[in-house]
Formats: sequence, structure tokens, C-alpha cells
Amino acid sequence: MRIVLVGPPGAGKGTQAAFLAKNLDIPHISTGDLFRANISQGTALGVEAKGYMDRGELVPDEVTIGMAQDRMKQDDAANGFLLDGFPRNVAQAEALDAVLKKDDMQLDAVLDLEVPEDEVVKRIAGRRICRNDSAHVFHVEYNAPKTEGVCDVCGGELYQRADDSEETVRTRLEVYHTQTEPIIDYYRAQNLVVTISALGKVDEVTARAMDALKK
Ligand code: AP5
Ligand code: ZN
Repeated sequence: MRIVLVGPPGAGKGTQAAFLAKNLDIPHISTGDLFRANISQGTALGVEAKGYMDRGELVPDEVTIGMAQDRMKQDDAANGFLLDGFPRNVAQAEALDAVLKKDDMQLDAVLDLEVPEDEVVKRIAGRRICRNDSAHVFHVEYNAPKTEGVCDVCGGELYQRADDSEETVRTRLEVYHTQTEPIIDYYRAQNLVVTISALGKVDEVTARAMDALKK
């Protein structure tokens, strides 16, 4: 299956993607995680992306599309993938369509996670991520690790993302409304969008998502 996950910052895309990718046996491809890996490795791409990310703005398409394309070409993505955080504007959606079309492929679904804005603000404020693996995501209140500041999965140190400050979150939400939301209409025209509520417990949302994808 080839799936795009869309939703505001803090909706739970990364959290759900980890479970959905496992259930569907496809790789989870997150452009945010790819940028963060480049930043921690100090690559030229990471250096370029960091300023945009710290301000909550989108990294330029020229950089992002090439990076996503390279990742989608890897062997593990030959039979499908779950894209998280890409595409993030209509130009990226058009580029993805063009890449898939060239290989006679198409998307199967665009899963749209709906969450009210006050809830995403709470989710982002309490988020903590493992230094060893960005798939290990916790929340100080909703999904607290057994020991404060320590990852339950691997014992790694938990940290707060630099772009999770209140001011940057406001910019990220605005960017979502103005630049990313239009891709939902773009994909609606292709009859690909399934919208689910991302409220409730993590496993309830996963079950809802799996149900919606089966249809
Ligand atoms: P990215 O990393 O993609 O961030 P985002 O879209 O802002 O999404 P988040 O990672 O903040 O949230 P999420 O929906 O994954 O939520 P999570 O599962 O962690 O992008 C970061 C930046 O990179 C961008 O601003 C941009 O600069 C750049 N970038 C990335 N892709 C780009 C692109 N394509 N083009 C250009 N630039 C790009 O959950 C949040 C919290 O809620 C966690 O603490 C979690 O434990 C908790 N939680 C999850 N589910 C539940 C639940 N059901 N109940 C209670 N709590 C929950
Ligand atoms: Zn960990």
C-alpha cells in the first residue's frame, strides 16, 4: 500500500505511523525525521534545513522533494510506504504524483487525522522524544514513560524538540492551514481522502485508522 498521512503538527502522525507501518508491513517515511537525522549527523542538508525548522517554516521544496524521492527509491519501499509529513504543499503533492506516475504507480489512500487546535497544543507541549530513535515518542501526561526523562523502549534520554516552543508551534499551525491543508482538496479531487478523528487513546485511533484504510 502507498499511503500519505496528513494532519496538523502534534496530531499524532508519528505515533500512529509507527503502529500502522508495522501492521501493514511497509516502511514509515517521515521527512521531519529525515531532516532531524541530517541535523544530528551535521550534513550540509541538515545545516540548510535547521534554520527553517527552528522557525517552524517549510524547508524549500528543492531540498525536500529530492530527499523524499531518494528515500522512496530504497529497496524496502518497493512495495509500498507510509509517508508522514510529505507532501506538505501542493507543489510537493504534484511532484509525488509525477514520480509515481513515471513508474506506473499510484497512491492508495490519504489518511487525514483530525484534531482540534487546543488538543494539538497540549500534545506538543508535553511531547518528549528519545535521542536514540525518533519513533520512541512519549507525552509527560498522556503517555508517560515509567521513569521521568528515560525511554521505556531503549533506556535512551528523552528530550523536547527545539521547534516545540509556543511561538514556533503557532507558526507551524499557520503554515499547516495555509500551505498543507490545500493538499487535502487536491487529493479529494482524486477521491483518495479518508478523514478520521485522532481523539481518544492511541490504540483506539490506530484501530479507527486500520478500519478506514480497509474500506
Ligand atoms: P515534522 O517532524 O513532520 O513535524 P509536524 O508535522 O509538525 O508533526 P509533529 O512531529 O509535530 O507531530 P505528529 O503529528 O507526528 O505528532 P506525534 O505523534 O509526535 O516536521 C517538522 C519540521 O520539519 C517542519 O516544521 C518543517 O520545517 C520540516 N519539514 C518536515 N517535512 C517537510 C516537508 N515535507 N516540506 C518542508 N518542510 C518539512 O504526537 C504528538 C504528541 O502527542 C506526543 O507526545 C504523543 O505521545 C502524543 N499523542 C499522540 N497520540 C495521542 C493520543 N491519541 N492521545 C494523547 N496523546 C497523544
Ligand atoms: Zn528509545
